[in-house]
Amino acid sequence: MTDMNKHVMDEAIGETRLDRNTQGLIGKGAPRYEGKLKVTGTAPYAYERLAEQDVAYGFIVPAKIARGTITSIDTSRAEAVPGVLKIITGDRITRAASQPGAPAAQTIDGQVFHYNQPVALVIADSFETARNAAGLVAVTYDETAGRFDIAARDTVREPGSSPMEPNNKRGDFEHAFAQAEVTFDETYTTPSYHAAAMEPHASTASWDGATLEVWTSCQLLESGIGQIAAGVGLDEDKVRVHSPYIGGGFGSKLGTSPDAVLAALGTMAIGKPVKVAMTRQNVFQATSRRGETVQRVRFGATKEGKITCFAHETDTTNSPGNGFFEPSGISSVFLYAGKDRMITHSLVETDVLMTSAVRAPGEATGMLATESALDEFAERFGIDPVEFRRMNEPEVNPMDDTPFSSRRLIECIDEGARRFGWSDRPTKPGSRREGEWLIGYGMSSASRLNQLQQSSAEIEMAPDGRATIRTAMTDIGTGTYTILQQICAEMLGLPLDRVDVVLGDTDLPASSGSGGSWGANSAGSSVYVASLALIRELADRIDADAETLTLKDGHAIFGNRQIPFSEILKGETISVTGTIEPGETADKTHQASYGAHFCEVGVNVVTGETRIRRLLTVGAAGRILNEKTATSQCYGGQIWGIGYALEEDLVIDKRNGLIVNHDLAEYHVPVHADVPALEVVLLEDRDPHASPLAGKGIGELAIAGVGASITNAIYNACGVRVRDYPATLDKVL
Ligand code: MOS
Repeated sequence: MTDMNKHVMDEAIGETRLDRNTQGLIGKGAPRYEGKLKVTGTAPYAYERLAEQDVAYGFIVPAKIARGTITSIDTSRAEAVPGVLKIITGDRITRAASQPGAPAAQTIDGQVFHYNQPVALVIADSFETARNAAGLVAVTYDETAGRFDIAARDTVREPGSSPMEPNNKRGDFEHAFAQAEVTFDETYTTPSYHAAAMEPHASTASWDGATLEVWTSCQLLESGIGQIAAGVGLDEDKVRVHSPYIGGGFGSKLGTSPDAVLAALGTMAIGKPVKVAMTRQNVFQATSRRGETVQRVRFGATKEGKITCFAHETDTTNSPGNGFFEPSGISSVFLYAGKDRMITHSLVETDVLMTSAVRAPGEATGMLATESALDEFAERFGIDPVEFRRMNEPEVNPMDDTPFSSRRLIECIDEGARRFGWSDRPTKPGSRREGEWLIGYGMSSASRLNQLQQSSAEIEMAPDGRATIRTAMTDIGTGTYTILQQICAEMLGLPLDRVDVVLGDTDLPASSGSGGSWGANSAGSSVYVASLALIRELADRIDADAETLTLKDGHAIFGNRQIPFSEILKGETISVTGTIEPGETADKTHQASYGAHFCEVGVNVVTGETRIRRLLTVGAAGRILNEKTATSQCYGGQIWGIGYALEEDLVIDKRNGLIVNHDLAEYHVPVHADVPALEVVLLEDRDPHASPLAGKGIGELAIAGVGASITNAIYNACGVRVRDYPATLDKVL
């Protein structure tokens, strides 16, 4: 951490300009900066770029086996189609590489690693011609046997990189478990899932002989530029990536997907811009997915219900050459008490599309298991699940005794219980009935690890006092444009509409990008640091004290003077860059956001169908920068939770490795009729250890645990405990 940042973090402990909130812009549900462009269909997405130019279209030829080598590719029939310009085959065709820390781009060397892996690209003067010709490319293979089933455990290896270390141990779990007065030992399974972002992965690329420009849908431009450069064999300084508008990413766009490298190879081969859009089927079959899991959860406790030891062991999958693992134990490290603990992960290698980060990697699957286990264990003692959590609340991180920066889990639970009317919960399964419907209540905890990443932003102030923020940050639909505008406007004393925001271009100062719920805090902190520098510039010019100078409505106010910025600037433009760096913040603390979910379901006694009747989430995630966008993130998490509890299941054919339900018609996600009125309450909170903004991540908080509040409610309604997600009606009947 630089001295500057250290100073900023120390300052954040005390009262800051954000606390003064002179203009009242921080926290306010300001409308989306780019909202009008999006709802009027005029925000240009990657595939819509260069519309006025003579462009060509690429279409992907997918492999028709899951594992083996390509023995021949016959393109003669496809090449004969009028309008076909070029067919690219060979080693430059890459596998998907859209995972953090993945090799920049993985060439396939004639190998097939998963069904529907791209093996060729047909480029033509129209999309339709390219699609038609792609069907005429004849590929032969030498097919080898594939491994498609996690349960078979054909090849088990040590996991590679993920947001956590694979193995975390303290004390001697097995010994403690053998000695425990009461024990719990159950296994939970979660299927594979898909991020299923609304905007398919798509790219437009243009090569002028010196610079390669790629417009693509990408969350982290820093990893995107590396993957594209490596994929086409150029130095990174010859590549410029643009991603100003993104129609959802959820981890599947942390890096680039094959369309970006293929479009780049295409434009370099034919000398005019090339567009490659993945079809919805390509998206499901050739980007990345969340790994399926088998999770064994064990608790030991005293006969009074005090947890003494805890183990969470996860099997998950990835394909050859990929080390990422779904870190299901990520919250188990610190969320539950227990002196002796063991949180481990094993990677089962399968010949299926690679697995990678999907919204709240770890918590989203792990807490489906552990929050259900806790509910079931509480019942064995006859203790209410709310009380059981209170009894087992650790005071410090139970893995290494570090203090929590702030942990308001019990407050979230208590506030939720009060608002929900938890005391009215049916005490026995099957005891409350309305016609054909059995009614049940369930609850769960939520937590999501907090991270701060290095990020830079430039703020330029024009002679008229108007400010422009420029950073290679992205907005994946989460509200980044708006939040950065709010922070800058509040800090500089400008009305919102006097601040412009330019994002999504690798020529701008490098940024954290959007991922891991760190975007608003990291990019926001860089804007905060830049704003402080700009305030000092303004103060210097009028011999005022920067600390006490009040800025409001485009004026500097001190003493009885009120000077417009235009007068201070005297025709000059000033520009400053602010950087926030990760590392040790003010002191060493364990940082996470916390929450609680409360759910009421009806289970139909005739059909076994579950309907969600009410869903309430209470969250504590430090300072909320924009109440509207933060709440919307939580709605999204709740809806994903409904999907994970009841519907979502990416089906892999165990005979041939095919992803069967490869579109939004067959990959079931909650629709309006599945979602009741949702309620989200965000507690007033500050975490000055987490960032200069005193905020923590919220984008992935609400998905954590919410599915278990639903399956716990199903149990409370009808007495059926589903440990194999999703809880479809056949499992409930
Ligand atoms: Mo998130 S899964 O890091 O986009």
